Amino acid sequence: MPRDTHGHLTPGRISAQRPVPPTIPRPEYVGKAAPSPSDAGDVYDGETIELIRESGRIASQAIDAVEAAIAPGVTTDELDRIAHEFVVAHGAYPSTLGYRGYPKSVCTSVNEVICHGIPDDTTLVEGDLINIDITAFKNGVHGDLNRTFVVGEAPIETTDLVERTREALRRGIKAVAPGRQVNVIGRAIESYAKRFGYGVVRDYTGHGVGRAFHSGLIIPHYDAPQYDDVMEVGMVFTIEPMLTLGGIEADIWSDDWTVTTRDKSLTAQFEHTLVVTERGADILTLS
Ligand code: MF3
Ligand code: CO
Ligand code: CO
Repeated sequence: MPRDTHGHLTPGRISAQRPVPPTIPRPEYVGKAAPSPSDAGDVYDGETIELIRESGRIASQAIDAVEAAIAPGVTTDELDRIAHEFVVAHGAYPSTLGYRGYPKSVCTSVNEVICHGIPDDTTLVEGDLINIDITAFKNGVHGDLNRTFVVGEAPIETTDLVERTREALRRGIKAVAPGRQVNVIGRAIESYAKRFGYGVVRDYTGHGVGRAFHSGLIIPHYDAPQYDDVMEVGMVFTIEPMLTLGGIEADIWSDDWTVTTRDKSLTAQFEHTLVVTERGADILTLS
């Protein structure tokens, strides 16, 4: 059953693993319990930044393909199939497949799912929110982004949450500049979100990305002065705020992945991978 009697999500059935052609290079962590520690750092030369942009473009175009299929009655597994086929058709590996045992090529986070929802036989319903998070790995580097979509039509409270979460990401990106500490990003996001009384999730953050999927650099989405890394030109990371219509406490399903709001309030998220430039930020995950 995809929903309980109150309309909240319940775990569905996960389909068999989708194959990736053997000609496509895999990230080092595939088939292992966890990634090997990486000392690649977070600052990249121009050539590598263009490769991250190529991975980011494939991931973004994969989301465009998924978006076209979002409608009432479609399963999240079908969206995973579309994303998977798009990514491998472009010579890239879907980074989440086999990452710490994650079984699918995309995260599909519906309604109260904050992040890391696993595609299954859950059927989308008119008025649902669904976040699609795709990361593509090609030429040894990852590009990571997500967007939230409304299925059909939804109440203004829901569409406002989506548009303001998109705006929160935009404001976070505008705060990026060399010489500033990364905590300016979360300060910009949280001060905007607070105007509307939204919850700003703290347990999941932006992160350094490039040669590693998650480099160890943390980008908070709330006001957290202790994250005092200084941004420099060529530094690559994600910003990916998660806002809720309620609280910020989270629960994790027994699948060890699916993260929901404890109060089952609706949540939205947007993510880009970007590089710090002399003038601010350059987004690397555009179609
Ligand atoms: N793409 C997610 C992020 O933004 C990470 C997903 S990891 C997974 O960092 F294993 F849950 F897929
Ligand atoms: Co990310
Ligand atoms: Co992501």
